[in-house]
Amino acid sequence: MVRETSLSPAHLIAPLFITDGTQATQPIQSMPGISRVSADRVVEVAQDLAELGIQSVILFGVPDQDRKDPSGKESYSPNGAVQRAIRAIKTSGSQLVVITDVCMCEYTSHGHCGILDDNHFLQNDETLEALRRIAVSHAEAGADIVAPSGMIDGAVGAIRDALDTSGHQSVGILAYAVKYASAFYGPFREAAGGAPSFGDRRTHQLDPANRGIAMREAQLDVDEGADFLMVKPALAYLDIVSAVHEAHPGVPLVAYNVSGEYAMVKAAAAAGWVDEQGIVIESLTSMRRAGADLIITYHAADAARWLKD
Ligand code: PBG
Repeated sequence: MVRETSLSPAHLIAPLFITDGTQATQPIQSMPGISRVSADRVVEVAQDLAELGIQSVILFGVPDQDRKDPSGKESYSPNGAVQRAIRAIKTSGSQLVVITDVCMCEYTSHGHCGILDDNHFLQNDETLEALRRIAVSHAEAGADIVAPSGMIDGAVGAIRDALDTSGHQSVGILAYAVKYASAFYGPFREAAGGAPSFGDRRTHQLDPANRGIAMREAQLDVDEGADFLMVKPALAYLDIVSAVHEAHPGVPLVAYNVSGEYAMVKAAAAAGWVDEQGIVIESLTSMRRAGADLIITYHAADAARWLKD
């Protein structure tokens, strides 16, 4: 009767990994229960999620190795796996809100989130041009919301301009505004095949020790036109979720309960050391309590099932 925080399937966004090929379902070893699927299988998966009361999915592309090159141009191909998956969901008549990850790391042969120069420095402004093309290709396929995840400076403003000048004014932007350089992304890099082949992402993702830069990054993205803000990872950063929520009242805030957080719970539960359902519902509730309106989580389907029972 006096509970302050609610948690329902409508608060959860389910991530989906989309591969090339057809009739493919590839289980991901470090993320038990999660598989990559080909675009022709995505409608079935989407339907199951919708029946559980989930209202939104976020799509990540996992292209075949031979489609990758240093420019990452497969990321904006109109016939890429993500573009085909968006079209499949939308033409099926599904009411799901389709969000897409906008980044180059799964598409570049070196695994970095943008264009590199000869000395392996990430070229921020050259990368913006590619991000504009990716966002427009997703919007043309029918995406409702695009989500730039590479921490490239100016991405939100550049994408807003590209969408507006190509007739996609109504497509929204979910900014991965506050993304830390985190060890919690380990399993995702196996899932999406996007690990950097040399170096790391500490020049553009945030230092886990810092809060001030998080607040400035969130403000910049709001000023550039973000419709949603995200903090990532979630559990180890709930103080940041809370601070961003308080600094930007009224801007929908998303917490990303990332792959490493998922893998730890699954491993401990498989060993019989923790109560999976208890841990998951408690963790998701704490993210909501900290100020997240929405949560991207690999537990989405299980949690929705538990919340319905
Ligand atoms: C980059 C991206 C990453 C994640 C989402 N988008 C990986 C990274 O920055 O290395 C991680 C998500 C997770 O761990 O669940 N496109």
